[in-house]
Amino acid sequence: MSTHSIELTVNGETVQAEVPARRMLSDFLRDDLHLSGTKRGCETGTCGACSVLLDAEVVKSCLSLAVQARGRAITTVEGLAQGGEPNALQKAFMECGGLQCGYCTPGFLMASTALLARNPHPSADEVRHGLSGNLCRCTGYTQIVESVLHAAEAGHGD
Ligand code: FES
Ligand code: FES
Repeated sequence: MSTHSIELTVNGETVQAEVPARRMLSDFLRDDLHLSGTKRGCETGTCGACSVLLDAEVVKSCLSLAVQARGRAITTVEGLAQGGEPNALQKAFMECGGLQCGYCTPGFLMASTALLARNPHPSADEVRHGLSGNLCRCTGYTQIVESVLHAAEAGHGD
């Protein structure tokens, strides 16, 4: 099986690796780098549990190849904390009850991070639209939308 040398940044750290051409980014992050915060759900691009940031763009890592991240910056949910503490968005999810089982939460956090970066003060409809690629079986979405609006009010995206 042919392999490729890649160098990329993951949560601010330079990573060099040798990966098979068909290694999925989600498998590379979870199994090779042990960043298990990125979840495997449907693995068909439907649920968003595997969402990460590729530079500033949210991507589904179950649909992306590790080699496509060569030279790019990946941010996973492990990269959100600041000084070992949850960031404002993560705190908002906790305060507003934006999670129950938590399986979908890393994906929602990454999609919300991308949303607030491009639109620091979204409306509820804009939040719903921005998170439309992520599915949650538990919360009914209301608290998730409230969490993002709460983080925006707290100036998370500014
Ligand atoms: Fe990637 Fe569901 S696991 S979208
Ligand atoms: Fe359980 Fe969303 S909190 S799937």
